[in-house]
Amino acid sequence: MEAKALILAAGAGTRMKSNKPKVAHEMLGKPLVRWVVDAARQAGCEDVHVVIGHGREQVEPLLGDCVISYQLEMLGTGHTVMCAADKLEGFEGNVVVLCGDSPLIRPATIEALIAAHEATGSAATVLTMEPANPFGYGRIVRDESGNVCGIVEEKDCTDEQRAIRECNSGVFCFSAPALLSHLDKLDRNNAQGEYYLTDMLALLAADGLTVSSMVVEDDDECLGVNSRSQLAAASKIVQRRINEQLMAGGITMLDPDLVWVGPDCIVENDVELLPMTMLWGSTRVSSGCVIGPNTRLTDCAIGVDNVLEEVVGIETTTETGVTVGPRAYLRPGSYLCEGAHVGTHVEIKKSTVGPDSKVPHLSYIGDATIGTDVNIGAGSITCNYDGVNKHQTVIGDFTFVGSNTMLVAPVKLGSNVVTGAASCITKDVPDGALAVERNEQKIVEDWTARHFKSKRMS
Ligand code: UD1
Ligand code: CA
Repeated sequence: MEAKALILAAGAGTRMKSNKPKVAHEMLGKPLVRWVVDAARQAGCEDVHVVIGHGREQVEPLLGDCVISYQLEMLGTGHTVMCAADKLEGFEGNVVVLCGDSPLIRPATIEALIAAHEATGSAATVLTMEPANPFGYGRIVRDESGNVCGIVEEKDCTDEQRAIRECNSGVFCFSAPALLSHLDKLDRNNAQGEYYLTDMLALLAADGLTVSSMVVEDDDECLGVNSRSQLAAASKIVQRRINEQLMAGGITMLDPDLVWVGPDCIVENDVELLPMTMLWGSTRVSSGCVIGPNTRLTDCAIGVDNVLEEVVGIETTTETGVTVGPRAYLRPGSYLCEGAHVGTHVEIKKSTVGPDSKVPHLSYIGDATIGTDVNIGAGSITCNYDGVNKHQTVIGDFTFVGSNTMLVAPVKLGSNVVTGAASCITKDVPDGALAVERNEQKIVEDWTARHFKSKRMS
């Protein structure tokens, strides 16, 4: 049977003390609500409905692939579902309700919940948990035969109910017709004056419909993020999950606590990730690389057998056997060909460094195309910006750029060119030529002795 997801994400998240709505806060580079959307999709829910409210102008752009409804008054989780009801009208399948601030739910758990729901022919199945500290959670109430007959919120509990250990995780699977046909029966007669979605279970049970439960194996999955501290805790849990998976896939980490890999990154086997390495976005690291320490790569594609030490890389591609660092900055559009080397205190932007070419020390290379087996001398830079426009530098194969050469773009160096150290190159240089641009050296004999009155030369 088809299942759709319905994610409740309209709440303010006041405890985050943020200008940003809670569900837009990121965990390992991905917004909280996106974790929930992606988990639902991976569990097979093609249609994902999300109800947003607080900060919706910041949340909606994160949800381009979802069906959006709005809740403009926070009247409780039951009301949230009412806000999406017209978009679900007529749907005969199952609706999985998830919280936008509970990003650790696993796709496999959602799938298992749907399967359990269908196997029991239930109108509602609630995912339950037994947290060490149940304070704040709705308690699962069962009848004499052990069937779920309702959920009571902490604030509405009798002392006896408060002692119940089994709690509502906030995740449900409903049969859509049962859910939609009972929404108008929810009321606000409770301690918080809200429409509680949790009251739905008692309503369905009272109508003789089957209400079931499934216990979550790992309570961590239901951790809600209400504060920065819980955000850190959730990030830690997901970091461990990802790193365990990576290590199982053949990746070495000296200290997994100090490696952060975003959920959409790909790391191949026999990669070593050293402390303080962060891989974000769609970064892919191919087999045999050693990355770090102190390296952050965002949306990069790293080739086989690279060594990247103390590198910040953004939207950069490297081929096989590239070495970078320590301390290099690879900006968007950098392309390092096979065997290229980018060394210490070097910045590359929107440039190609050809096969086996080297930019070893203290350089800025921007808007440049460097050929094969080129050596860029220490301190050489491309002067690519004239204050208004950016210009190209082209350097041919086997060219040797002397130290501290200024390449004033637009400029073209042919192949097998040599530039004299400290030259300021403003004109194109033909193949095989030497280009020197500097004054002839002057020698003043005995100058030092005269100047320092023999102090240093005696
Ligand atoms: C809810 C459950 C409680 C459960 C707990 C699990 C209810 C009444 N209670 O309590 O049984 O143990 O989750 O974490 O459902 N939201 C809206 N609009 C609203 C209210 C909430 O979109 O008007 C969203 C929130 O953004 C959040 C989710 O619904 O994503 C849960 O709301 P929250 O206020 O955190 O509910 P709890 O009091 O934690
Ligand atoms: Ca909550």
